[in-house]
Amino acid sequence: MAVLVTGGAGYIGSQTCVHLLEAGKEIVVVDNFSNSSPKSAKAVREITGKDFPLIECDIRDTEKLDEVFTQYDIEAVIHFAGLKAVGESVSKPLEYYDNNIGGTLKLIEVMKKHGVKCIVFSSSATVYGERHLAPFNEEMEAGGTTNPYGTTKLFIEQILKDIAAADSEWSVSLLRYFNPIGAHISGKIGEAPNGIPNNLMPYISQVAVGKREKLSVFGNDYDTPDGTGVRDYIHVADLADGHVVALDRALSVKGCEIFNLGTGKGVSVLQLVHAFIEATGVDVPYVITARRPGDIATSYADCSKAEKVLGWKAKRDIFDACRDTWRWQKNNPNGFDD
Ligand code: NAD
Ligand code: UD1
Repeated sequence: MAVLVTGGAGYIGSQTCVHLLEAGKEIVVVDNFSNSSPKSAKAVREITGKDFPLIECDIRDTEKLDEVFTQYDIEAVIHFAGLKAVGESVSKPLEYYDNNIGGTLKLIEVMKKHGVKCIVFSSSATVYGERHLAPFNEEMEAGGTTNPYGTTKLFIEQILKDIAAADSEWSVSLLRYFNPIGAHISGKIGEAPNGIPNNLMPYISQVAVGKREKLSVFGNDYDTPDGTGVRDYIHVADLADGHVVALDRALSVKGCEIFNLGTGKGVSVLQLVHAFIEATGVDVPYVITARRPGDIATSYADCSKAEKVLGWKAKRDIFDACRDTWRWQKNNPNGFDD
């Protein structure tokens, strides 16, 4: 029996593949490589010494997906495949609704046809919107998303909740990630954004490696200890561990469950910049600029449910994440093109 990993060539997917293989799971990866390279799977094989099928497949291609489910004995799906750039989703909403929601519907259709009723889904803290004060917990009402990307996560959560409510044989695990950062400790896989990074950590590391001149810190007049935005940065390896335990739980418990995956600690932009400098010894010049529209002051998780139910807790800190990001970035300044 194997676990199908959609989007398994991407940043979080490839790291999770390593942890699944190390936990003794068999995996099958499908990806359309719209935001990744097959080279990440090669690196996963190198790291683990284990082989697995990597199939170029768009999850909206039901015929091809059907072949994958026919060829392999799939027992569950970890569903990472999706588009994730917030700004782009505002200018191309239809692409986001089609790829993320349309793709998920097609995937579920094929899963259902093959009697596979267990899915772990990559959701996001963005579903908490702007209406709650941190720490966010799973009991808080989701909604009020501010961009199409966030709305796709909200809708997909709802679709999966409805499916689990309609058919008691389904297991659905909705994992709400906070801010994933870091890379595999080997420096062989990590985040490789196309073009100018939108997110803080890849921007910091590209400044450090000399690809960008300086970081713009988006606002220092928030109601936070140093005025800069506060987020819950979780090491991608901890996030990957979270998927392994969430998968085991979903394989044994029916119904829909939601888990925050974060650290429970808020870290400001300037704290992360200083942690990077301290951890790597490399300078990161920065300038304070205006706030980025749509940003909230503070976001961090209440992670008590994941700890209680899954027995999972983040083990790595931001210094580990900075060191690991730097190892990946300096060895591969152009990501998988190097
Ligand atoms: P990523 O872009 O590195 O990985 C997504 C992968 O899905 C890529 O390899 C891409 O090629 C593939 N893909 C996209 N559309 C596809 C399709 N139609 N068919 C097949 N493959 C397709 O992104 P990531 O950071 O690894 O994120 C993984 C998941 O986690 C995404 O769903 C993302 O929205 C979610 N998420 C990410 C973050 C984050 O900060 N990185 C935060 C919260 C949630
Ligand atoms: C962003 C998305 C969110 C998505 C998440 C994925 C927006 C508005 N939100 O969250 O929907 O789920 O990524 O990880 O895009 N910052 C700078 N300079 C930069 C980049 C960021 O100061 O060049 C600041 C931001 O203002 C914020 C913090 O760094 O305070 C983190 O930003 P980012 O990494 O983009 O993540 P989020 O805004 O939390």
